[in-house]
Amino acid sequence: MFDAPCGDFNWMRMMKFQEGFHYIGGDIVDDIIAGCNSKYATSSLEFIVLDFTRDKHPKTDLWLCRDGLLHLSNSSIMHAFIKFVESGTEYCLVTQYNNVKINVDIATGLTRHVNLLLPPFRLPPPRARLQDRPVGEEQRELGLWSRADIANAIAG
Ligand SMILES: C[S@@+](CC[C@H](N)C(=O)[O-])C[C@H]1O[C@@H](n2cnc3c(N)ncnc32)[C@H](O)[C@@H]1O
Repeated sequence: MFDAPCGDFNWMRMMKFQEGFHYIGGDIVDDIIAGCNSKYATSSLEFIVLDFTRDKHPKTDLWLCRDGLLHLSNSSIMHAFIKFVESGTEYCLVTQYNNVKINVDIATGLTRHVNLLLPPFRLPPPRARLQDRPVGEEQRELGLWSRADIANAIAG
């Protein structure tokens, strides 16, 4: 699995991965990745500095993008989807806010939530949904889409 952005691996470090599972965490902040590498790296857990909107994504079975789009302009989100499609990875699991009625565009670095089913993204309904509601935080979900779902949506 490719987890980008991985942040500081704070909650992911509690996950029990099956034997043979390989995890690649990617984040744009060098210090975050240096910290993850010094604390958590093993032969099956690796961490790389990467901008998931511009850099090549490693090909894996799944791209996890939790709370990764909220600081990106709509155009940067599209670029992240293009990089995912180019990677050849078959599925992505991405944070989705169903309660957002209009997608406001922002400059990258500001914050807002996005509903990926609405313009300008127009993704189809996710193939599966995982509820994601940490205590004290807003309800959201992780939606599962295939590479073809994303490729078709961005082509339109
Ligand atoms: C809210 S955290 C989410 C981290 C993690 N996915 C989680 O669930 O806790 C957002 C992270 O996105 C990283 N980030 C922002 N823009 C990025 C980009 N273009 N490429 C890679 N990482 C980025 C930030 O450095 C930060 O660590």
